[in-house]
Amino acid sequence: MEIRQSILDTIGDTPLVALRRYHPTGALLAAKLEFFNPASSSKDRIGVAMIEAAEKAGELRPGMTIVEPTSGNTGLGLALAALIKGYKLVCTATTKISREKVLMLEAHGAEVIICPVDVAADDPRSYYKVAERIRDERGAFLPYQYYNQANPIAHYETTGPEVWKQTDGKVTHFVAGIGTGGTISGVGKYLKEQNPAVQVVGVDPVGSVYAYYLEHGKLPSPDELKIYMIDGIGQSYIPESYWPQYIDEVITVDDRTAYQAVFDLTRSEGIFTGSSGGAAAHAARELARRLSDDALVVTLLPDSGERYLSKLNEDWMGERGLL
Ligand SMILES: Cc1ncc(COP(=O)(O)O)c(C=O)c1O
Repeated sequence: MEIRQSILDTIGDTPLVALRRYHPTGALLAAKLEFFNPASSSKDRIGVAMIEAAEKAGELRPGMTIVEPTSGNTGLGLALAALIKGYKLVCTATTKISREKVLMLEAHGAEVIICPVDVAADDPRSYYKVAERIRDERGAFLPYQYYNQANPIAHYETTGPEVWKQTDGKVTHFVAGIGTGGTISGVGKYLKEQNPAVQVVGVDPVGSVYAYYLEHGKLPSPDELKIYMIDGIGQSYIPESYWPQYIDEVITVDDRTAYQAVFDLTRSEGIFTGSSGGAAAHAARELARRLSDDALVVTLLPDSGERYLSKLNEDWMGERGLL
C-alpha cells in the first residue's frame, strides 16, 4: 500500500520544470517548484527539521509551546509539524505579512501576533524581540530559523540532493533568493561537494545587505538599508543560517522587476509564484542569458502567488508603482 503516515511524509521531492517559454533559447533554465510542498512552500522542509532536531536535543518536550518570528511560510511549515506532533504554536510577524498568511496560520491553529516592520531588530517592539519575550514568559521553544543550523542542514539533506539527482549531476548554476540563507547555503554546500565547479548565485532585494556583504565583506551603513516590497528575502544583518563561503555571486533585484517577473512567468509558463520567486526567476534568466548553451541553470521558486493575491493585483501594485 502507498499510504503515508502523515502529511509530513509528503514534504520534499518537488518537481523541476524547464522554463523554455520564459527563456526560449541558449542555456537551459529550470525551476524547482516548492509550492508542491503540503503547506505550499520550501519552509515545510525546515519546519519539521527544526522541530525534530529540538526533540532529539531534548529542548522540545511534549506539551510545550513553540514561538517563531516569521514572514509566514516558516510559521506554516512549523504549524504542520506542531499540530501532527501535538505542540501549540505562536507566530510573531510584521505588518508586512499578507492577509492570506495570517488566515492560513490561524486556520492551522496558530496564534499570530503582528509587530511593526519599521523598527530596528533590537527594538523591544520588533517581531524578533516579541518572540524572545514570549519564549521567556511562557517557557516556549524558539526554533529561530535565523540561527538554527537545522535550517540550512534540511536543505543540505533534501533540496540539494534532489537538484543533483533531478539534473543527473548536470546542474552548472543554482540561483535562489536569500532570506535566512538556509536554502542557498544548504543546497550550495551539497552541490559544491558533488562538483566544486557548480556556481551558487544568491538573489537579494535592493536595500538589503547580502549583495553588499559579498562585495565588501562587511555590512553597509544603516542609511543604505531600505524597505522593499519583495516578500521573504533580504535582511538587515548576516544571520547564522547563512553560510557565505558557498556563495559565488549575489544578483540584486528591485521591487518592480520582481513583481513584473511574477506575471511574465505566470503568463509564459503557467507557473504562479510569489514575489521572491519572481525575483529568483528574473535573476536566473539574466544569468542564463550570459552563459553558453550547455549551461544548466536551476532556480528555486519558494512559494505560490496564491499566498499573495491581496498584493498580486492591479490595485495594490498600481498604488505602489509596481505596474
Ligand atoms: C517567500 C520566501 N521566499 C524566499 C525565502 C528565502 O529562503 P531562505 O530563508 O531559505 O533563504 C523565504 C524565507 O523566509 C520566503 O518566505
